[in-house]
Amino acid sequence: MRSDRTKRLLRAVTTMGRVWQHAFLNAFVSPGRFRQVMPELRRVCDAVYHPGIGELKIFDLPGEGPIQILSLDGGGGGMNSQDLYALLRVVRWLKPRKIFEIGTFNGFTTAHLVMNSQAEVYTLDLPLELATDLVDYNSNDMKLLHQRDQIGMFYQNMDVKGRIHQLFGDSRKFDFAPYRESADVVLIDACHHYDCVISDSRHALEILGERGAILWHDFANLIDVTRACKHLAKVMPIMHIEGTWLALHLRGLSISGLRRDFTGSVAASQGTLHG
Ligand SMILES: C[S@@+](CC[C@H](N)C(=O)[O-])C[C@H]1O[C@@H](n2cnc3c(N)ncnc32)[C@H](O)[C@@H]1O
Repeated sequence: MRSDRTKRLLRAVTTMGRVWQHAFLNAFVSPGRFRQVMPELRRVCDAVYHPGIGELKIFDLPGEGPIQILSLDGGGGGMNSQDLYALLRVVRWLKPRKIFEIGTFNGFTTAHLVMNSQAEVYTLDLPLELATDLVDYNSNDMKLLHQRDQIGMFYQNMDVKGRIHQLFGDSRKFDFAPYRESADVVLIDACHHYDCVISDSRHALEILGERGAILWHDFANLIDVTRACKHLAKVMPIMHIEGTWLALHLRGLSISGLRRDFTGSVAASQGTLHG
């Protein structure tokens, strides 16, 4: 009898085979159109097939207690409700004392992180007026940058505000030293360029404590984030939370019933990264 993993792999390969077959037929019939859809095709293939990254079902996450979600729409640029729910399940499970979010935006996710934990939440964003090095930024990432007073608007009038520590700066140059080995959960959701994601991941590994989790948003959605996670998965265990755009790395923790190589030993988690 075929294992779940083999079945999933076969399904992914069959789907991709069909998609590519149609794409190549299109390439002959309409090369212009083919060039247009190529990036989307690549994105979809990446989303379906990402060797080296395990699959984890949302309900495999040991959830504890009810999750509070204020609205199903955080506004374009934030997380969708499925991703937010999965993230908050991790938070409810780990009961973090310190969370570090790289990429605040309007603070919709930040607010939910405090509402669903007792943690102090540190959240870093790059205001437009401090953005001096944007050569790698594509137009979508550019659109997400805002003036300082617009960042974190969502949580500004909430009574959870006291536990939110808003930080400003470019995550590639920010001094993470004061947070070294102290965070229980780190969320990476800032610039989506490959080099930025790798740089943010390096910093996340530095600030993560002995036991905890790193989550990447937009895995299996944006090509560069997926590529960066695939690269990182060569030196540390990373799982995709099925049905979401979240990838998860656990350090010093495991989820019972999962294959051992996708859960994190501290040693594996501290693997060296090369760009
Ligand atoms: C996708 S949004 C974050 C969404 C937010 N985490 C949420 O779930 O609501 C990306 C944010 O990252 C910020 N950003 C982009 N480049 C950055 C950098 N180099 N350092 C810090 N923040 C950055 C942008 O200003 C934007 O607010």
